[in-house]
Amino acid sequence: MLCLAAVSIFRMATESIPKSMYMLNSGSSQVEHDRLNIQHHLFNDIMQGHLLPPHIISALDAQSTPPKILEMATGSAIWLTEVAKTLPAEAEFVGLDYDTSRFPPPSSLPPNIKLGKGDMYEPFSSDLLGKFDVVHVRMILFGVKEGRGLEVARNLLTLLKPGGYLVWVETGPAWFKFQQASWRFAKKVGSDLNLPNATLSYIKEAGCIECDDKAYPGSAVLYTDKGKDWIAQTNSNFKAFFEPTLRGIVSLGGVEGMATDVDVDEVIAMADQEFGNRKIHYMLLRAWGKKPEPS
Ligand SMILES: C[S@@+](CC[C@H](N)C(=O)[O-])C[C@H]1O[C@@H](n2cnc3c(N)ncnc32)[C@H](O)[C@@H]1O
Repeated sequence: MLCLAAVSIFRMATESIPKSMYMLNSGSSQVEHDRLNIQHHLFNDIMQGHLLPPHIISALDAQSTPPKILEMATGSAIWLTEVAKTLPAEAEFVGLDYDTSRFPPPSSLPPNIKLGKGDMYEPFSSDLLGKFDVVHVRMILFGVKEGRGLEVARNLLTLLKPGGYLVWVETGPAWFKFQQASWRFAKKVGSDLNLPNATLSYIKEAGCIECDDKAYPGSAVLYTDKGKDWIAQTNSNFKAFFEPTLRGIVSLGGVEGMATDVDVDEVIAMADQEFGNRKIHYMLLRAWGKKPEPS
C-alpha cells in the first residue's frame, strides 16, 4: 500500500526548512495558508471549475484501479483536498512540499490524503517512484531556478506510472493580478461568467444543428511562416489591452486589489518585467452551428 510505504517521508511541521530562493514562506504560516486557499478558488474559477483537464478525469474514471495522485509543492494542500472530494474514496493522494508549515492539521484531512516533506530538486523516496496516475504542480515559478525547469519536470516524471499525466499550472504575478481583477470585476458587474465555455451550448439551445467548437491556442502561429514577428505583435496587442482594461476597472469603481491608479501603475510595471518579449499565452474559442432549413 502506497500510504503505508510513504510514511517514511512524512515528518512533523516543526522541523527546519531547507534554504531556498522561494520567498513567500517568510511570513506568518497562517496568513500564507489562507492566501493559498483564496488563490485556489480564484484559479479554479478562472479554469472553469476543472481541477484537472477533462480528458485526464475521463482517463482516471475509465481505469480499473482507484487513482493515485501526487501534488508536489502542495502548500496548504487545498488543490489536493478539493480534487479528493471529486474522486472515489479508494483513491490515494499524496502532497509533498519542502516546507510543511502550511499543511493543514492531519486530523482535518480525509484518511486517503497523506502529506509529507519533499523537495522537487531531490530524488524521491523509492516507494513513491512510478506509482502515480497524475502528478500535479502549481505556482512554483518563484521556486524554479533559472535553467532548471527541465530538471524539475524530469524529476516529477519519475513519480508517474507509464501512461500517467504530469500537470503543471503557472501564471506570472502581473498576469494573475490582471485575471483576478478582471474576474472580480466581471462578477461585480454581472458579466456572463460562463463564456467562453458556454458559447457552443448557447448556439445549440438557440436551435442550431451541426454544432461544434474548437479552441485555438495563441501560440499555434509560432510554428507557421508568420511565426517570426508573432511574439512582438501579440505582446504589443496585449499591452494595448492590458492597461486600458485595468484603468477602466478603476474608473468604474474598482475591485479589491485594483482600486486606484497606483494599483494599476504597479501591475503595469510588473507586467513590463514579466512579459518582456516573451510569449503570452491565451486561447480563442470558436463555436458554430447551422440554422435548420424549414421542414
Ligand atoms: C505559491 S505556493 C503554491 C502552493 C500550491 N501549489 C497551490 O497552488 O496552492 C508555492 C509552493 O512551492 C513550495 N516550494 C518552493 N520550492 C520548493 C521546492 N524546492 N520543493 C518543494 N516545494 C517547494 C513552497 O513551499 C510553496 O508551498
